[in-house]
Amino acid sequence: MRINGNIVLITGGATGIGLALAEAFVKAGSEVIVCARTEENLKQAKKKIPQLHIKKCDVYKESECEELYNWVTSNFKDLNILINNAGIQRMIDFKNGTEDIIRHRAADGEDEIEVNFRSLVYLTALFTPHLMKQEDSAIINVSSGLSFHPMAILPVYSATKAAVHMISMLLRQQLEGTTVKVFELIPPMVDTNLDKGARKARGQTYFGITTEEFVHPAMKAFESDEYEIRVIDPKLAMMMGHRQGSSS
Ligand SMILES: NC(=O)c1ccc[n+]([C@@H]2O[C@H](COP(=O)([O-])OP(=O)(O)OC[C@H]3O[C@@H](n4cnc5c(N)ncnc54)[C@H](OP(=O)(O)O)[C@@H]3O)[C@@H](O)[C@H]2O)c1
Repeated sequence: MRINGNIVLITGGATGIGLALAEAFVKAGSEVIVCARTEENLKQAKKKIPQLHIKKCDVYKESECEELYNWVTSNFKDLNILINNAGIQRMIDFKNGTEDIIRHRAADGEDEIEVNFRSLVYLTALFTPHLMKQEDSAIINVSSGLSFHPMAILPVYSATKAAVHMISMLLRQQLEGTTVKVFELIPPMVDTNLDKGARKARGQTYFGITTEEFVHPAMKAFESDEYEIRVIDPKLAMMMGHRQGSSS
């Protein structure tokens, strides 16, 4: 896939991995639209990268996804890349019954299944016919290393990301022979605000690679049509290697 000359829509693109992808696509010579819920984050993103187009949208709500689709396809008729990046992460302990689920929903009105999976499915369905009319197009889904190596303290998050992996595989099969390439971007732990400080609160002292360290190899992989892109954290890989070495 070429990384220049595209028109790219990135959900949740005002911060973290989405913003770093936006910056990399702009630098490569593509036009980028980012959407998110928080107006202030969108304004800050635009301040950092003045070429960005910003649009407030809550992908949790189907009506707002439809409004986004109509706005984007009217104003950017040649949009050819959709990046499903918006995501949230919550610690949930089933031993607490529904308490954790209800507390997180009350805090920000969001639900991992809705944001991480259902909205991705709905946006993909909305945009696929449009993308099939473009000469070269792509859908890029952001899953997680936890799709393959889940964590018990993040059970719903891990399950939604496994579902993102599965839907990406099946979408790739369905769209074979069309103009739409389907990529899955599989981040390791990346130092962003995804967990809203939970990593620190549970005593972690390492927060992962930087967004720049993540995005650089990802952009190279897009260019070489690597459809399942696993970015490795060299520090963690070395630690795991040492552990395996010492136990053998
Ligand atoms: N950081 C990691 O270690 C890591 C590892 C593996 C996978 N990932 C995945 O990478 C993606 C990006 O996460 P990140 O680490 O860059 O965290 P982040 O900075 O928190 O980015 C997530 C973005 O999603 C947006 N978002 C959340 N709910 C939304 C909604 N309902 N509608 C529209 N946008 C929404 C947020 O903006 P608003 O709150 O303003 O809407 C935010 O900009 C996520 O899918 C995450 O699961 C991250």
